[in-house]
Amino acid sequence: MNTPALRGSRILGFGHHQPAKVLTNDELSTMVDTNDEWIRTRTGIETRHIAGPDDTVTSMAIEAGRNALADAGVDPSEVGLVIVASTTHQDRAPYTAGRVAAALGLSAQAAPIDINTACSGFEYALGLADQSVRMGSADTALVIGSEVLSSIADWTDRSTCVLVGDGAGAAVVGVSETPEIGPVSWGSVPHLLDAVRVEGDPGHFNQEGRSIYRWAITEAEGHARAVVEAAGLTLDDIEVFAFHQANLRIIEPLVTALGGESKFVVRDVVESGNTSAASVPLGLSKAWSRGSLPEGVPALLFGFGGGFAHAGQVVTTPVRR
Ligand code: ACO
Repeated sequence: MNTPALRGSRILGFGHHQPAKVLTNDELSTMVDTNDEWIRTRTGIETRHIAGPDDTVTSMAIEAGRNALADAGVDPSEVGLVIVASTTHQDRAPYTAGRVAAALGLSAQAAPIDINTACSGFEYALGLADQSVRMGSADTALVIGSEVLSSIADWTDRSTCVLVGDGAGAAVVGVSETPEIGPVSWGSVPHLLDAVRVEGDPGHFNQEGRSIYRWAITEAEGHARAVVEAAGLTLDDIEVFAFHQANLRIIEPLVTALGGESKFVVRDVVESGNTSAASVPLGLSKAWSRGSLPEGVPALLFGFGGGFAHAGQVVTTPVRR
């Protein structure tokens, strides 16, 4: 069997895209029986972006992917793999990834893959891209999380509609002499299988918020520690914490439990709400484009949610060219 010698991979750049329409807590209060104070204190969310008629999972994935390639200085013809993670893919075929490949002018050799592991989708996709690049199946991969959660939200249910947002985030993965993306740690929680549901066509989002919250503040810490251990690092080495942006009341205690209060913490849930598979790359890309993301340092990525799946890895943040 002819397998290439393993090589490393790294993140070369980030990109993102959000719809223009911003929905505030006060505006939501005119739609359902809620208020700004409840949403802020229970979730940390202040605003979220909501798709307009021309914003789709595909269109936002294309824009985020285009921005990531430009940021990385990579020509579309160099991309050998594009993976789009989403809970809200438009169609089973053509794939969102195929549509992205065509729109961005990727080569005919580029493999298009859609995946859906809900809120941990980006970490799964990044794990697959890392392994593909390291094994030589592709020299460059485009990894995207894109969601239109507003399309599956029940806008009469105040317990869920206040949480969701739309958007896309992307990363470009390329070859590196040294490994700059650690091993992905992944798995699922069988007793929470039905805790997040998107059922029917076009889909209806529902969740057992309390059960997930309890799992997140008791069990997620152990999984996050395992991710760091798998990378051969300690928590002291981690300079950036990028968790699934579901709720600031989950992110803050998790960071504290991991001793990361003085480090850079992605808190984009405040501006963007919960964007499921898009949340981690969206938060990282926004921080990167603002110039606030520390460069060339280990970042802990960890996603959890529908499935009930979770996944994470440590990556080295890019260094500005
Ligand atoms: N405005 C005002 N009151 C509300 C609202 C609202 N939007 N929503 C619920 N309430 C009320 C409830 O009716 C309830 O009232 P009651 O005490 O009179 O019965 C009270 O607030 C408390 O409701 P809970 O649902 O128990 O509120 P909780 O503090 O658990 O917060 C939340 C709910 C924010 C969903 C929290 O449980 C949570 O974040 N869970 C984790 C969710 C998560 O991480 N999901 C990730 C996977 S899914 C995905 O990412 C797409």
